[in-house]
Amino acid sequence: MKRILTGDRPTGPLHLGHYVGTIVNRVKLQYEYETFILIADAQALTTNFEHPEKLKEDVFHCALDNLSCGLDPNVSTLCIQTMIPEIAELTVYFSNLVTVNQLLHNPTIKTEARYFGFEERYPYGFLGYPVSQAADITFCRANLVPVGEDQLPHIELTRKIVRRFNELYGEVLVEPEALLSDVPRLPGLDGQKMSKSLGNCIFLKDSDYEIEEKVRRALTDPARIHPNDPGHPEVCIVFTYHKAFNRKEIEEIGETCRQGKIGCVECKKRLAEELKKILSPIRKKRSYYEERRDLVIEILRAGTKKAKEEAEKTITDVRKAMRLSYF
Ligand code: TRP
Repeated sequence: MKRILTGDRPTGPLHLGHYVGTIVNRVKLQYEYETFILIADAQALTTNFEHPEKLKEDVFHCALDNLSCGLDPNVSTLCIQTMIPEIAELTVYFSNLVTVNQLLHNPTIKTEARYFGFEERYPYGFLGYPVSQAADITFCRANLVPVGEDQLPHIELTRKIVRRFNELYGEVLVEPEALLSDVPRLPGLDGQKMSKSLGNCIFLKDSDYEIEEKVRRALTDPARIHPNDPGHPEVCIVFTYHKAFNRKEIEEIGETCRQGKIGCVECKKRLAEELKKILSPIRKKRSYYEERRDLVIEILRAGTKKAKEEAEKTITDVRKAMRLSYF
């Protein structure tokens, strides 16, 4: 069976962007691929290093988010990055195979650096996290990595590192491929990049009321003032969401919007209804697991143990290939 590895940074609750970008694919493919989901707590520290105390709750909630979306702990492996120190060791070896310039040119790093206020003063760990992400992906020799579009530069780097490693030391690692979903990038409700601090995302744990309120405030076609003005769905964020979450109605909504026959209020109501339908069973599953904290911890413990065993096998082969055995 081929393998999937993908992961999340536990820095707060996961949102609809994660859902359509990668989680749907994880859940769909988990019976066809041996699936590893890594909770990347060390990567979260690259931007949150001043508050490590938050990780405990964030790691737990990240597990909850995955489980509540239908990740099946009987077939998939949920694991915690820092409890697999082999990943850190691999990162050290990989760091020789990458140049600082390569990292500085990574477009995702540039965007995130601006967002976190790191411009011109990149912490080494932050600049290097894509190298650590390459170690995340290769420790279990994953073939496929379901991700959102923003992660593509990191997968490309991983492929380069793997090729270089195998060329220098021998064929030990597997070159992975990225898997994008049908909605590789979902904008925030205000049209900007989706982000917690901009308050423009719908979280998987949001209540019906929160969904309604957030959708109500979403940005639409700015040229449209009266409900019967002809609209321009191609520039409307709400329409983008209909495309992502309400496929069966998009033709009709697009057409009636263009003709000025459906107003934004009505259009938003219909979107909120669809989102509520999608998120309600997820919320239900979340409360099931939330009430069974010990079960979630057990899932994480068993998953991490299994993942670590894979990492040990890989690191043994890596050290051997690199001739790092002295006695
Ligand atoms: N960088 C990813 C994100 O911000 C999270 C992540 C960490 C990841 N390790 C990974 C994704 C390995 C794919 C594979 O969402």
